[in-house]
Amino acid sequence: MTRLQRLFLLICFHFATQVFSEAPPALPQEVLFDNWQVTWTPASEENNVTYTVRYSSSFSFDSDLWEDVPSCKQVNFTSCNVTLIKAEAEHGCVMLGVQAESRGLTSDLVRACSRQGNSCSPKVGLSARPGFLTVHLSRHSGIAQEGYHIKQRIYFGKEGERLETYEDAVASVSINNLKAGERYCAKVQYTYFDHPVGVASCDKCEVIPPSDPGTKTIESTFAIVPVLVILIPIIAYLWLFQRKRIKEWLQPSYKMPNALIMEASDLAHIQISTNSPTEELDDITSMELRGQ
Ligand SMILES: *[C@@H]1O[C@H](CO)[C@@H](O)[C@H](O)[C@H]1NC(C)=O
Ligand SMILES: *[C@@H]1O[C@H](CO)[C@@H](O)[C@H](O)[C@H]1NC(C)=O
Ligand SMILES: *[C@@H]1O[C@H](CO)[C@@H](O)[C@H](O)[C@H]1NC(C)=O
Repeated sequence: MTRLQRLFLLICFHFATQVFSEAPPALPQEVLFDNWQVTWTPASEENNVTYTVRYSSSFSFDSDLWEDVPSCKQVNFTSCNVTLIKAEAEHGCVMLGVQAESRGLTSDLVRACSRQGNSCSPKVGLSARPGFLTVHLSRHSGIAQEGYHIKQRIYFGKEGERLETYEDAVASVSINNLKAGERYCAKVQYTYFDHPVGVASCDKCEVIPPSDPGTKTIESTFAIVPVLVILIPIIAYLWLFQRKRIKEWLQPSYKMPNALIMEASDLAHIQISTNSPTEELDDITSMELRGQ
């Protein structure tokens, strides 16, 4: 190894350690918020890492204004009781996150999510069917007091991707045209006048099942139903009303004397009450119909 090569390696090593030592600590993982308790898991085995829980009062509409939770500042444990900020959180609406600190360097803030739901975090259910995913929403009483300005923003996408696509809804929503065998995820956050408020639900994921040949036959049976619904009245209409017209077309038309109509209806009454219809009656009633 020449001196130049050694020098080069030394410079590389020096540069690498410099970069490494200046890298901020790894992001905290699994940041959860339930029952006014924030919990997380450390990303690395690094020593001397501390964590700070931060919050943003949702209804201020200034979602970039984050403050430290005083009792959870630069702590060396992995959970913190944030009951203190409850008073500031209208209907429990507050956004929370955790950041790691080490050697004076700070990681990005990782937003907390809620598994159990609370007055300002939706509780979400997912159900997967061939081709689509239904997100079941249920509204909690806390935020519901704010009325119809409250919506639920459903973020969805494939597992592993950032859930950026979203749709606002007040009731449950189905996401269509999804590929069988793929795993899709959704999370939901309340919005107030289109601003996200409160902690979002944690991602929930489901695999889209393949379409079952059994359900196909059921589907095609159901496809026949509308056809029958249309066909039956048409046939019935032709049978009941056009039969008369068809007969008219086939017979020379003539006007019935009124007296005969009277007689015919009397006859019909008598015949029906005795429950013994005859050939003759059929002829008369059909004539009566034609005369009207
Ligand atoms: C941790 O920090 C303390 C003082 O802040 C320092 O004395 C100690 O050497 C650090 N430990 C490591 C492993 O960096
Ligand atoms: C946390 O910090 C305290 C001092 O602030 C120290 O006594 C304790 O050992 C630390 N715990 C861990 C797990 O590092
Ligand atoms: C959190 O702190 C409050 C008081 O500040 C206390 O009433 C509550 O029980 C604590 N919660 C937990 C889970 O320790």
